[in-house]
Amino acid sequence: MEVKTKSLLDNMIGVGDMVLLEPLSEDSFIENLRKRFDHNEIYTYIGSVVISVNPYKSMLIYTPEKVEEYRNRNFYELSPHIYALADEAYRSLRDQDKDQCILITGESGAGKTEASKLVMSYVAAVCGKGQEVNKVKEQLLQSNPVLEAFGNAKTVRNDNSSRFGKYMDIEFDFKGDPLGGVISNYLLEKSRVVKQPRGERNFHIFYQLLSGASDDTLKKLKLDRDFSKYNYLSLDSAVVNGLDDAANFRTVRNAMQIVGFMEDEVQSVLELVAAVLKLGNIEFKPESRCNGTDESRVKDKNDLKEMCELLGIEQSVLERAFSYRTVEAKMEKVSTTLNVAQAYYARDALAKNLYSRLFSWIVTRINESIKAQAKTRHKVMGVLDIYGFEIFEDNSFEQFIINYCNEKLQQIFIELTLREEQEEYIREGIEWTNIEYFNNAIICDLIENHQNGILAMLDEECLRPGTVTDETFLDKLNTVCAEHQHFESRLNKNSKFLNDHSLPHCCFRIQHYAGKVLYRVEGFVDKNNDLLYRDLSQAMYKANHTLIKHLFPEGNPAKVNLKRPPTAGFQFKASVGTLMRNLQTKNPNYIRCIKPNDKKAPHIFTESLVCHQVRYLGLMENVRVRRAGYAFRQAYEPCLERYKMLCKRTWPHWRGPAREGVEVLMADLQVPAEEFSYGRSKIFIRNPRTLFFLEERRRQCLQDLATLIQKIYRGWKCRTHFLLLKKSQIVVAAWYRRYAQQKKYQKIKSATTVVQSYTRGWQARKLLRELKHQKRCEEAATTIAAYWHGTQARRELRRLKEEAKRKHAVAVIWAYWKGLKVRREYRKFFRANAGKKIYDFTIQRIMQKYFQGLKKTLPSMSPIDKNWPARPYIFLDGVHMELRRIFHLWRCKKYRSQFTDEKKAVYEEKLEASELFKDKKALYASSVSQPFKGDYLEISKNPKYQKLNSSVDEKVLLADVVNKINRANGKGTTRILLLTKKNVVLADQKTGQVKANVALPDLTSVSVSTQNDGFFALRLKEGSASAVKGDFLLSSEHLIETITKLHHIGSTASDGEQLNVDISDEFLVQFKHDKVCVKFIQGAPKNGNSVSCKRKNNRLLEVSVPASA
Ligand SMILES: Nc1ncnc2c1ncn2[C@@H]1O[C@H](COP(=O)(O)OP(=O)(O)O)[C@@H](O)[C@H]1O
Ligand SMILES: [Mg+2]
Repeated sequence: MEVKTKSLLDNMIGVGDMVLLEPLSEDSFIENLRKRFDHNEIYTYIGSVVISVNPYKSMLIYTPEKVEEYRNRNFYELSPHIYALADEAYRSLRDQDKDQCILITGESGAGKTEASKLVMSYVAAVCGKGQEVNKVKEQLLQSNPVLEAFGNAKTVRNDNSSRFGKYMDIEFDFKGDPLGGVISNYLLEKSRVVKQPRGERNFHIFYQLLSGASDDTLKKLKLDRDFSKYNYLSLDSAVVNGLDDAANFRTVRNAMQIVGFMEDEVQSVLELVAAVLKLGNIEFKPESRCNGTDESRVKDKNDLKEMCELLGIEQSVLERAFSYRTVEAKMEKVSTTLNVAQAYYARDALAKNLYSRLFSWIVTRINESIKAQAKTRHKVMGVLDIYGFEIFEDNSFEQFIINYCNEKLQQIFIELTLREEQEEYIREGIEWTNIEYFNNAIICDLIENHQNGILAMLDEECLRPGTVTDETFLDKLNTVCAEHQHFESRLNKNSKFLNDHSLPHCCFRIQHYAGKVLYRVEGFVDKNNDLLYRDLSQAMYKANHTLIKHLFPEGNPAKVNLKRPPTAGFQFKASVGTLMRNLQTKNPNYIRCIKPNDKKAPHIFTESLVCHQVRYLGLMENVRVRRAGYAFRQAYEPCLERYKMLCKRTWPHWRGPAREGVEVLMADLQVPAEEFSYGRSKIFIRNPRTLFFLEERRRQCLQDLATLIQKIYRGWKCRTHFLLLKKSQIVVAAWYRRYAQQKKYQKIKSATTVVQSYTRGWQARKLLRELKHQKRCEEAATTIAAYWHGTQARRELRRLKEEAKRKHAVAVIWAYWKGLKVRREYRKFFRANAGKKIYDFTIQRIMQKYFQGLKKTLPSMSPIDKNWPARPYIFLDGVHMELRRIFHLWRCKKYRSQFTDEKKAVYEEKLEASELFKDKKALYASSVSQPFKGDYLEISKNPKYQKLNSSVDEKVLLADVVNKINRANGKGTTRILLLTKKNVVLADQKTGQVKANVALPDLTSVSVSTQNDGFFALRLKEGSASAVKGDFLLSSEHLIETITKLHHIGSTASDGEQLNVDISDEFLVQFKHDKVCVKFIQGAPKNGNSVSCKRKNNRLLEVSVPASA
């Protein structure tokens, strides 16, 4: 196990633990505190108690690093700190399953609340983490700002003084994770709501609300931002330095949300706060009645009205409650009027009650939120932050109660510290002698004794019939408590105070453990009674506001309780009793807060003030008790670990049990036997001197050890360095040798290679030489052989050549001779016309060859085949062309001879068409490839035209559908056109009815255009029968055929009169009586491909023909 040897004894300023103070006196105690305070050491221990001196400045000792430093460390290990106490408490709660309580005491402004927050934040930081746990932590921590806003106020002692007691139980599970908490509140100082002493303020929330709320919220709450408008807010110290009310208001709203307040709940709370402010502004005036008494009336009803609106109360009900008081007794109701003073009293009582009940409700509401869920057993850590002991100039009932509470705490401190101390000695088996200390049980008894305690007397007075005043109460005290040592009163039987002028008549004085306090009895009875007129509580109950109704349950007329409610004193005593019982079951941890000055200023240490606190807190006694037996104790293991270097036998290791080691150590150091005792697990050192002796020896020894360690370390370091150098040198040498050898080897290797190559070269050259010699020998032989063969061959060749020459010569000579012989023989046959014969023969041969060739290369028999073989001889050019022409004519004749008569007629027609139109009309070209069918309608076969067919006697040569152009608009009407040898017939296309029948002789001419259109005009002989209706302007798809046929019929007719065909782009047509000009123009391409005919005027029809492609 690692045992840390750092301790609070190291680097100590003064002494960290007062128990070690030597010599121990009040002066040295305070001097030690001052010394530490001056060095910013605000925490000092008395054993396990932490003394905290308020620094009044922010300290850098609460950082997360500090939290880590103190986490899981032994209490005395580090310099004193509140974190050490919190850590100790948390660990014994978690690890030893002991419920803990942290009791924080000290007077107002000494830093109790801050200390409690530090403890809580430390525990929150070190305990478990996780989403759920963090939420619980956050809620627990955020309950503080809410409670502080409603329960804290600025007082002369403290700008943020808690005006209520608070005890918070934080509950943990077995792992030490927080589960939730329960807050108990004690006696809120509610008188502050209506009146504040000079230099003090009302509760923070009033100022926060007015400065921090938005205009909108204030308007809703009918409030004004100006503090001076409210009677209940003291003005002289409304603004506190360093306190940002507006920012705090936002913090509080946020905290309320985190803690779990609903938005409407927050709103209700603020409404109640506003209502209290409004209530303070209600004023009363007297109104005389006929019986001579004065009755109170509300002066200005505006505030009353607004308050009633806020809380949903009927104004008249509340107004009445401020003027009358109903007393119910034994089924009897008596109503009395209130005078002005009583009305004010009632108003203030209502305000106080309203506020204090609101506060209690907030606590309950927070508890609901932070309540632990699990039903398993919890470990509990209680943190008690209760108002400190208070001594004012004017002390009243509240101070009495507060101081009583502090007495009880002191009591429990005494009891538990001593008991704890005693128990430790018993546990450790050490002998214990009792120590004298002041036990304040007697003061507690004076206050709380059931029979004759002050609180019991007060209750008795309050419940007694008859007139009860504060004076009768004091009288009673004077008689009952006169004998008590701690009770002082001028008028008691004990005559020793008769002439004590510091003790006024209407007061009594108690000698508290923390000093004498003079209480003024005025108000004791009232405050103890804490009366709120029933009419008021009933008025509140009638409110149409859920929260306020809930706060005044006694106002419910159905539950009228005639019994008096328990008095304030009684309630407080009971709750303090419960608290004490609760604390007694837990392991206490103390934080004693001390206030260094009255000015709330840093760096000022007012000795008298501190001395007073040290005295009444009983700190000296605490030290004495702690030292009575043994000043210092420590478990054996850490003790041995810390001091083992002081003895050779225990240094550096002790193998046996720690206790024996410590015994050996002590014997070796010759510490006198009476100076220490051996407990079961701890050694107890009686005198701090002994501890310091040990510490001093340890310090010296540590120095020696440090030197030794340094020496050994230096030696080790040098040796290590040397070894390192040596090792390095070897490595370097090895590497170098290797390198050198490598080099040498490489040299030898290359030398060998050179030698080797020389030898090999020499050998190779030798071999080469031999081979060359051998080869040369072979070559020489070959050459000689070749030469020899060459010579042989040449010789042979020469012989053969000479032989051939000889043979040739013989042949030539023989040929010459032969020729000569032949010439001489045939000379007689070669005479005069031999040349011509040879020529004719040659020509004949050539022609023969030409014709035979032409026969083989003749082209095909197709008349359109243009091929013809090329001529072979120039002199045959004419013949060749002529033959070609003859061949073509013959080929055409052959072709024609195949035709039948009909086909011939067709071609003749085509020929006629070409004669008529070729190069004259653009339409002709497209008609060449179209066969002339004649009967396009199949008139003889189609039954539809049977009647029409039968109406013409001649054979139909042409039957076609044409358009008859209407003169009026140029549009066409379809007609069937029939052509026979004798007539032209136009008939209706649908019905087949003959519309016109023109005998061919009546036709004089036909007019067509030169263009690509099918228009034609049939012009009739003037005066003929057919000419009555005028000429016909027609258009036909088969114009060329139609006209050709007409023309042909004309030419073959017996009378032999020719039909004229006029081809012109402008011609006249006779319509009945008028002559109309038909004009053909080239149409623009936009008109498309169709021919259109338009009547331009009476005398002009314009035919637009698209330009032919
Ligand atoms: N540990 C501390 N560090 C710094 N300032 C402190 C510390 N303890 C207290 N104070 C100051 O003292 C003031 C009063 O402390 P507080 O805890 O409210 O006193 P108490 O609760 O005892 O009346 C605080 O508002 C704060 O300014
Ligand atoms: Mg406080």
